[in-house]
Amino acid sequence: MAERVGADRVRIGVLISGRGSNMAALLYASQAPDCPYEIVLVASNVPDAPGLDLARAEGVPVFAHAHQGLKRAEFDAIIDAELTRAGVEIVALAGYMRLLSDAFVAKWQGRCLNIHPSLLPAHKGLDVHEAVLAAGETVTGCTVHLVTPALDDGPILGQVRVAVLPGDTPDTLANRVHYAEHQLYPRVLAQLIRDRTSPEALLARIRTLALALPAAAEKLSHGSPGFFVEGGKFFAYFSYDHHHDGVTGLLVKASGLEEQAQLIENDPDLYYRPAYLGPSGWIGIRLDSGDIDWAHIEGWLARSWRASAPKRLAALPF
Ligand code: GAR
Repeated sequence: MAERVGADRVRIGVLISGRGSNMAALLYASQAPDCPYEIVLVASNVPDAPGLDLARAEGVPVFAHAHQGLKRAEFDAIIDAELTRAGVEIVALAGYMRLLSDAFVAKWQGRCLNIHPSLLPAHKGLDVHEAVLAAGETVTGCTVHLVTPALDDGPILGQVRVAVLPGDTPDTLANRVHYAEHQLYPRVLAQLIRDRTSPEALLARIRTLALALPAAAEKLSHGSPGFFVEGGKFFAYFSYDHHHDGVTGLLVKASGLEEQAQLIENDPDLYYRPAYLGPSGWIGIRLDSGDIDWAHIEGWLARSWRASAPKRLAALPF
């Protein structure tokens, strides 16, 4: 996944099919100096969707392609290619009235959000406001959730409640729910990004990967969370602003000083020589300097584990 912290903002692609007022809310919220994202593409399956004009007027690149005549997976592959070309890291569905193919959902898993005009899990699908009024409900609202293969499903990231007023019609209710949506979506998207790039979230992810290795355990070492093999040695440390170096990184064992130097020379933005452990041939991998390739991190943890585990464990296949 490709989250960023610091000056770089996370690159968002927004998919719309219509008016695009939620896209606009995301866009205008991104003008705040502390907003952690920027919208780099607005794409649509409806070439004359009004939201595209708004995006164009605001100088945001747009892409439109009619879905008619294309299989779902074919169409999604076209959209996916555009998102990838634009360097999109998180996809925000904003009134995108297309079911997504399994391949698209799998590729963007955990990085694709949707907004829906009800308090999910109530009232999935279409004609939500009609259903709320028909059920005589006095409270409705909106939900932002992560996208999973099932429609309007997936972990809920945030909700806003909206009162239903006597005499409401589907239109009057939809209008008020829109106010709530416009407030909710930018806030939840920003929070998701901050959560995923916070030191706490990074440590949680490192911890999950490290402790999944055989006989791995954790204890603090000189103030840093360290991971070791029971009966063996430390194989990783999570380093956060260690001695005020301002760096969030993972320390693992390289094969020695030669490899350490090579790694740093080849990719100085990613690798660094850690204080204290550097002379022993450990390598620092930055977790705060751009895209995090989690498969790569997982590979390093496994390799470092092998170098640290007692022989009987290191021989285990995993
Ligand atoms: C919004 O109310 C959004 O929640 C809804 O479409 C509308 C789009 O408005 N989405 C869904 O119903 C998805 N199941 P907008 O184009 O003005 O943002």
